[in-house]
Amino acid sequence: MASLQLTASSSQWIAGKGPFAWRNSPRTAVPRRVAVRPIRAGSYTDELVQTAKSIASPGRGILAVDESNATCGKRLASIGMENTEENRQAYRQLLLTTPGLGAYISGAILFEETLYQSSTDGKKFVDCLLHEKIMPGIKVDKGLVPLPGSNNESWCQGLDGLASRCAEYYKQGARFAKWRTVVSIPSGPSALAVKEAAWGLARYAAIAQDNGLVPIVEPEILLDGDHSIERTLQVAEKVWAEVFFYLAENNVVFEGILLKPSMVTPGAEHKEKASPETIAKYTLKMLNRRVPPAVPGIMFLSGGQSEVEATLNLNAMNQGPNPWHVSFSYARALQNTVLKTWQGRPENIGAAQKALLVRANANSLAQLGRYSEEGETEEAKKGMFQKGYTY
Ligand code: 13P
Repeated sequence: MASLQLTASSSQWIAGKGPFAWRNSPRTAVPRRVAVRPIRAGSYTDELVQTAKSIASPGRGILAVDESNATCGKRLASIGMENTEENRQAYRQLLLTTPGLGAYISGAILFEETLYQSSTDGKKFVDCLLHEKIMPGIKVDKGLVPLPGSNNESWCQGLDGLASRCAEYYKQGARFAKWRTVVSIPSGPSALAVKEAAWGLARYAAIAQDNGLVPIVEPEILLDGDHSIERTLQVAEKVWAEVFFYLAENNVVFEGILLKPSMVTPGAEHKEKASPETIAKYTLKMLNRRVPPAVPGIMFLSGGQSEVEATLNLNAMNQGPNPWHVSFSYARALQNTVLKTWQGRPENIGAAQKALLVRANANSLAQLGRYSEEGETEEAKKGMFQKGYTY
């Protein structure tokens, strides 16, 4: 088991004042012994490292299916379906029972309802995933609310009761977790919002690890805004610096986490679009400056990019060696064509599953740096950015 030894900080040697100042003066003081106890990583350390490694395995990435019931309802509404538990189950069943999915997908992030759900023929979704050697994961944050004292920004709730929820999710078969908070560039971001986002992520990560779940750390820097790519780089560097500061302060084991960053791109309303090569250059610059090589995997979100854009950008980032596994954890960029193909009709399930395999395979190739855009459909090239998108 790993153990970390902390040394007393310099602030513990305090120079004195008054008649006995000589006793404590920096030159003559006999340092007081401070009892320092080792801080031990939790009992799950080895398992966390193994879990993270298996998710970050070559040619594989994460399928994010963790839409809240409200957001899943929006997806269903886009193909004229009602937001009922039965319809959500039908959609999740289509995705999670796709034969052969495990060749490209190493983990699936679920919403709580799905973690406890079964397919219509009575097989737990968790077991459907394990059959394909896909690790089940769980969204554990409780969503965003306004952050008082900020510039109309938000903060992410969910720390209360998180330890016992994580312990329950582990028993149910989850082995990793996700917590998504957001940072808005047009709103500042304010120092308060960045600090709150970073601190919340770090507390969550420590609690998840303590209960056997590999935390995915996701401070999403929203695409909203007309700012340049340089501005995004600046903000991303600031955010990740704070995130790693607090992760370290909370004694999070870096070998047992995964990151889910936004790619460094210009704002969605910026006058010029950036090429995949430029996006890769800026994103890797930011990651190399901020992310220690101990972290096993970087699993990008798609954030409203089109399916093809998200794949091209990932491919561009894998044209040379990186210190970490650079891969995907897409929701919209894996599901869009699938949903359009399915249309809620049982006779389309096979075709929709095939569409999922096409996207998963494309991103698997992009993880290996071997993707080509040839043969992609017009649907897959349509952007999905929505102003003020909530997940
Ligand atoms: P998108 O890929 O749709 O941005 O989803 C990100 C996410 O956090 C899902 O877990």
